[in-house]
Amino acid sequence: MKKILLGLVTGMFGISTICLAATGPETMNLKDRFAVQGKKPAVIFPHHAHQAKLKCTRCHDSGRGGNLSITPKNIKGMANDFHKKICWPCHVEMKVPKGKSCNTCHRR
Ligand code: HEC
Ligand code: HEC
Ligand code: HEC
Repeated sequence: MKKILLGLVTGMFGISTICLAATGPETMNLKDRFAVQGKKPAVIFPHHAHQAKLKCTRCHDSGRGGNLSITPKNIKGMANDFHKKICWPCHVEMKVPKGKSCNTCHRR
């Protein structure tokens, strides 16, 4: 019985590890991740919350995640590519409440 239980537990661990690898982290500090310089509080991006509402290909090249469809190159100041090319256009399109308010993304 003990052995069966152990098998079940390790089995479940295996599955959850695979899921974790496939869907990426639940949240990501984008300031650290892209080495963005500046004084605004770091954006902690709720990755899994977005996955719950959107297809992977809204942001990624493939349905398995990985590369973003738009590589953020300009990462300085207000006209950075996150604002202009990734986050804001979709928030506007999908009418996310306070989707362009600074505090929605740059939380202290
Ligand atoms: C939908 C999310 C989102 C909203 C809303 C948003 N930003 Fe950003 N912003 C980002 C991301 C992502 C970065 C790059 C990663 C980081 O800096 O953590 C960034 C970077 C910045 C930067 C460059 C880095 C720095 O620290 O100087 C500035 C300046 C900035 N934002 C100002 C603002 C201001 C002002 C507002 C409100 C008018 C705002 N942002 C609203 C997502 C957002
Ligand atoms: C709203 C945008 C968005 C959606 C939708 C989205 N992701 Fe992501 N994902 C990101 C961002 C931003 C990153 C960080 C990109 C980077 O570091 O280059 C990322 C990174 C990843 C990574 C890499 C994690 C790592 O540590 O290297 C994987 C894997 C991933 N996503 C999988 C998925 C899968 C699978 C889906 C669909 C179920 C999905 N993503 C949906 C925005 C999104
Ligand atoms: C393809 C569409 C899309 C893209 C791209 C996108 N978002 Fe969103 N975002 C949404 C939607 C839809 C919601 C509303 C989710 C909900 O109803 O809870 C949302 C909500 C949020 C929230 C609020 C979550 C909360 O707790 O209320 C944050 C923070 C956020 N997004 C950050 C970002 C950042 C940072 C980026 C860019 C890296 C980004 N989003 C890119 C569609 C998008």
